[in-house]
Amino acid sequence: MNIQAGPYLIRSWATGDEAALASNINNSNITRTLAARQPRTYTEEHAKAWIDLCALEADPVNFAIASGPDVIGSIGLTLQRGARRRSAEVGFWIAEDHWGKGIATQVLRAFSEYAFSQFDLIRLHAYVFDGNAASIRVLEKTGYTYEGTLTASITIDD
Ligand SMILES: CC(C)(COP(=O)(O)OP(=O)(O)OC[C@H]1O[C@@H](n2cnc3c(N)ncnc32)[C@H](O)[C@@H]1OP(=O)(O)O)[C@@H](O)C(=O)NCCC(=O)NCCS
Repeated sequence: MNIQAGPYLIRSWATGDEAALASNINNSNITRTLAARQPRTYTEEHAKAWIDLCALEADPVNFAIASGPDVIGSIGLTLQRGARRRSAEVGFWIAEDHWGKGIATQVLRAFSEYAFSQFDLIRLHAYVFDGNAASIRVLEKTGYTYEGTLTASITIDD
């Protein structure tokens, strides 16, 4: 599955992406504003397990963001279930060396269009940590609107 976002390619995770994935997940500047729980040291074996898991997705929802041969980010959907089945959560990160170049905005725009066209969705949403101004800005530029603030909803490191 390939989604073109300007010069960037949203593509399936592939063997060979392990080092880039591990190095970014070991960057606390990236993970401190992500709710996903990762091992304290994220090894290339962890990355391989993630890549293998993504390959099993019947409807792919988790993707790498590539610039030429380089993996420079990640974007994915969590499809909701039951009464919320027409809703999905979007999550994304960009490698720190590439921040501030408009990449997340370009990628999120293309990915949101893909999500609405591929799945029977009427809603996409994202959870953003308080103070994550860059992510708030990316979401606003892409057409997402602020709906509210959750309190005491996240636990990290106990
Ligand atoms: C959030 C993140 C994906 C943004 O990626 P990016 O490619 O740098 O984003 P863009 O360049 O498309 O846009 C960033 C916008 O935020 C603005 N911005 C960045 N830091 C800012 C700050 N501290 N205060 C205010 N605005 C800020 C930029 O100026 C830009 O807006 P502009 O185009 O109006 O100037 C990236 O910082 C990241 O991966 N962070 C860690 C993971 C994360 O938080 N993911 C989102 C979880 S909800």
